[in-house]
Amino acid sequence: MDDLSTEAARRRAIAWATALAANTPLEPQAYEQALLDEYAVGALSLEQVLRLLDERVKHVLYRSRATQAFDEEELSELLAESRSWNGRHGITGLLCYSNRQFVQLLEGKSNPVDLLYARIQRDPRHQQVTTLSTAHSAQRFFADWQMGFVTVDEGEFHWVLTSLDHPSHNASLIEQYVQDPHLRTLLEAFSQV
Ligand SMILES: Cc1cc2nc3c(=O)[nH]c(=O)nc-3n(C[C@H](O)[C@H](O)[C@H](O)COP(=O)(O)O)c2cc1C
Repeated sequence: MDDLSTEAARRRAIAWATALAANTPLEPQAYEQALLDEYAVGALSLEQVLRLLDERVKHVLYRSRATQAFDEEELSELLAESRSWNGRHGITGLLCYSNRQFVQLLEGKSNPVDLLYARIQRDPRHQQVTTLSTAHSAQRFFADWQMGFVTVDEGEFHWVLTSLDHPSHNASLIEQYVQDPHLRTLLEAFSQV
């Protein structure tokens, strides 16, 4: 078998395995499927697909409600504790707080992100932890932040949540009301503003 036919056989085998995994827990997620599609048309080699899969970033976006209002000191303590752990485990992201409500994006390798999110869900300082999005991608949106932080007023926060819950629904209002650059990055990544 020459190289080309070996590669063609690999492509067929992978297309087959992907079709078999459809509608099972092994079904590739959107990012993985996009890489396999590029492989199928020869735009990426198998080695490139494997490298990109190894390097992929998991994103978890959630919202929650603080059990009690956090004052500035409690928020600083939470951030110091978070940044120290996140720095040691390659987690970056953004925490947004407004009037007892949180939205947080966690991004990093799958295992530490899952471990951290499980801990966060058990944390008694907040409740009603609701996952808004989990996805993989090639990039971090807040690569420089071991945990960025923004506090916003209720109006801006309302539009952040509206945009995340109903992508592209009120695009022009969201453009107008959401001014913070970090929040805009978040919305550009997770809604279709
Ligand atoms: C809104 C919110 C966001 C949090 N974000 C982080 C974080 O980014 N990184 C982190 O290490 N801990 C974070 N924590 C703290 C964790 O929930 C938890 O206290 C910490 O991981 C220690 O877990 P353990 O008490 O189970 O050991 C957050 C807590 C809350 C309430």
